[in-house]
Amino acid sequence: MVTHGSESYFVIGEGLLAESVGGRNGSENGAGPTIAAIASEAAPPFRFSRMGPSGAGKQLGEGARKRLGEAMARAGGGNSQIPAGFTYLGQFIDHDLTFDKTDVMLGTNVTPAQLLQARSPSLDLDSLYGAGPQDPGSAKFYEADGLHLRMGKTTGPTKNGFDLPRGAGNTVAKKRKAIIPDPRNDENLAVGQTHLAMIRFHNRVVDTQLGGVPDAQKFERAREIVTKHYQWMIRTDYLPRIARKAVVDNVFNNGRRVFEVNAAPTDVPTMPIEFSIAGFRLGHAMVRANYNWNKIFDNGGGTLDLLFTFSATGGNLGSDTRLASIWIADFRRLYDFGEANKPNLTVPASKFNRAMRIDTRIVDPLQHLPPQTVGLPNSTGFNDKRRNLAFRNLTRAKMVKLATGQQMQRFFKNKGVTIPRLTKQQIRDGKNGADLSGLTAAQREAVLKNTPLWFYVLREAELNGGRLSGVGAWTVAETFHRAMEGSTHSIVRDTTFAPSLGPNNTTFRMVDLLFFAFEGKKALLNPNG
Ligand code: HEM
Repeated sequence: MVTHGSESYFVIGEGLLAESVGGRNGSENGAGPTIAAIASEAAPPFRFSRMGPSGAGKQLGEGARKRLGEAMARAGGGNSQIPAGFTYLGQFIDHDLTFDKTDVMLGTNVTPAQLLQARSPSLDLDSLYGAGPQDPGSAKFYEADGLHLRMGKTTGPTKNGFDLPRGAGNTVAKKRKAIIPDPRNDENLAVGQTHLAMIRFHNRVVDTQLGGVPDAQKFERAREIVTKHYQWMIRTDYLPRIARKAVVDNVFNNGRRVFEVNAAPTDVPTMPIEFSIAGFRLGHAMVRANYNWNKIFDNGGGTLDLLFTFSATGGNLGSDTRLASIWIADFRRLYDFGEANKPNLTVPASKFNRAMRIDTRIVDPLQHLPPQTVGLPNSTGFNDKRRNLAFRNLTRAKMVKLATGQQMQRFFKNKGVTIPRLTKQQIRDGKNGADLSGLTAAQREAVLKNTPLWFYVLREAELNGGRLSGVGAWTVAETFHRAMEGSTHSIVRDTTFAPSLGPNNTTFRMVDLLFFAFEGKKALLNPNG
């Protein structure tokens, strides 16, 4: 069973930090997490590292984590200006970064170097490509030509190319299962449709950009074009929306100051736990409880619960084996094509979806996650804390003794990066964020003194108009820079790259990607009218 997130963290230099929040390999009561450092002789799983210091002795007790998790999940928080599609683009990117390619590799001729690369963060879209069409474990993701990625069809009426490709086995469960490298991209419909858009993007590049390329090189050339445009879009469009632009520009223009600074560019990167367990979980704050999904599920009718239901990892496709056509996304409601001067592809403001502000609050449904998405039995009680995403995130931090916000601020400062330190009062009061009055005085004091990093970076964002700043912005920008640098195709290493699929040679945004992928056609970006 594939669930979200790592259940154990192999941290370079420390070994395997294993425990559970309850779930896949967890204790049933979820109480009293223990950390077992297990020396691993076998090939390590996904390669994590520690960017900052250890937070030993600074972790919150279970009671405080539970109360803080509840405070963060109390409904509220405002809208941001960020179009809601970027939430799920973020989730797609997270899965690309944390994808362990050995899950799909079947080859017997895998070299140790390939193995290392396969278990390392990169922005190579291996969650889309698997190990490539030539790998026996990944051939099923491709059409017979070994070039196009397969797409699926919806039902009632049948529409080709609007669902993920799904299985053809002889049981309902097999038929329903998406045939994509990373089943996490079928965890909710919004990330599933994002994955589908990326499949279309690749296929369109194959159809239009390979003139003159010898057959044997066609796939790799297409992948390179796709990957570099995708990285450009992340660098120039996604990152500045979620993090302070000055920090993103500083890191990409002047290089990293803190993380793997002396690594040779092509060395295999690692994934800092500060990013994976705190910084990049910022996306949980962006999730909405309701969407104006399309013309049929309008006015909030596209609830988060239904987006889970109409997927096969988080739900059961509404008991069907394929997606119903009425659930196909209206991308015009998720991304603002007005930014690309395409007024004919915009919807009235009242229909448009914006992400929730990046702050210390998550929406109510995320404290009652579908049990199967976190590997819990279906009988798990509705209010069980292990279903609360905030409690889970805080507990992961405790599990690996993650540095606190204050420790990370000091750490950056010692490396010459001046970041203002949040005061106790700022951490306590925030700005229309989580209210800490439900914690006991002792619990609150513990939170203010040794602030869990995830909470700290969200408070920073909340006080900065809903964009990561300080510790959060630096942690995220440096990790992205390193992951792009160490990717097989890399716009950090290839400084001559300029996008050719957008309006000019410096611009390639998510709306440009979608416009290209869906052939600029309203009927494809929104087939339900
Ligand atoms: C409906 C949307 C989402 C759901 C239901 C969801 C759920 C989860 C769950 C259950 C975990 C594992 C928790 C644990 O440690 O036990 C997780 C991990 C994580 N999530 Fe999300 N998430 C969502 C959206 C996002 C978004 C939008 C982002 C980022 C922009 C994000 C970033 C992460 C990261 C970085 C991790 C840890 C790394 C990993 O994937 O292993 N998530 N998420």
